[in-house]
Amino acid sequence: MPVAIITGASKGLGRALAEALAARGWDLVLDARGAGPLEQAAEAAAGHGARVEALPGDVTDAGHRAELVAAARKLGGVDLVVSNASALGAEPLVRLAELPLAGLRRALEVNVVAALGLVQEALPLLRESPAGAVVAVSSDAAAEAYETWGGYGASKAALDQLAAVLGAEEPGLRVWAVDPGDMATDLYAAAVPDDDEPRPAPGSVVPAFLRLLDERPASGRCAAPALAEGR
Ligand SMILES: NC(=O)c1ccc[n+]([C@@H]2O[C@H](COP(=O)([O-])OP(=O)(O)OC[C@H]3O[C@@H](n4cnc5c(N)ncnc54)[C@H](OP(=O)(O)O)[C@@H]3O)[C@@H](O)[C@H]2O)c1
Repeated sequence: MPVAIITGASKGLGRALAEALAARGWDLVLDARGAGPLEQAAEAAAGHGARVEALPGDVTDAGHRAELVAAARKLGGVDLVVSNASALGAEPLVRLAELPLAGLRRALEVNVVAALGLVQEALPLLRESPAGAVVAVSSDAAAEAYETWGGYGASKAALDQLAAVLGAEEPGLRVWAVDPGDMATDLYAAAVPDDDEPRPAPGSVVPAFLRLLDERPASGRCAAPALAEGR
């Protein structure tokens, strides 16, 4: 069975992806800081017959990242790393003039440094996989100048660039930065609590991610809505 490590898998997009991969026969190593919701997500994935290791911890902890990869090695290796856990830098989001620098540092640490740290730890096993892949969950805030999204957007732009260079440096792998589009999740509610416009459920973008894994297009950046429509 192929093995995926998914960070931030206790809710939102990470949990939806975990369940979908489990239903397709993947074994999983799942991470999030909160143990209770992570355990529930793991049980839901295991209900599809997957072997699931749920390891609570913070992706910024190098020891925890090593544990995630060690758990995947025990399941047989690493075929996919999904860097999905994310920090906003300020909740709710604020304009750059007010953005606490500690918040920006935290967003960079979670969204960029930890994502690269996990890939570095997993690379030897990814290279051994017949279909090794890395998915960096990005955002349109990486490319568009939305007011108040500057710190988070800068971190996602940095993540995009890491993914692009990794794809060039590791031609044997596929490395995709994927903008999932807006989704109704706790992260979005924390970012913009006053926004009451309906947003799609995270499960609605999962088919786009599955399509990537099925079709394995060249490494690069893509947006889930366009992928789902086959554009
Ligand atoms: N929602 C949107 O509209 C939207 C749009 C564009 C991009 N995205 C991206 O989509 C991805 C998923 O976001 P989401 O909206 O699904 O968020 P979500 O529902 O709030 O889920 C975030 C997950 O990450 C975990 N997490 C957060 N910080 C962590 C850390 N330091 N270490 C380990 N786990 C951590 C959370 O659990 P704990 O809190 O228990 O750790 C949770 O499992 C993120 O990369 C986000 O930037 C979201």
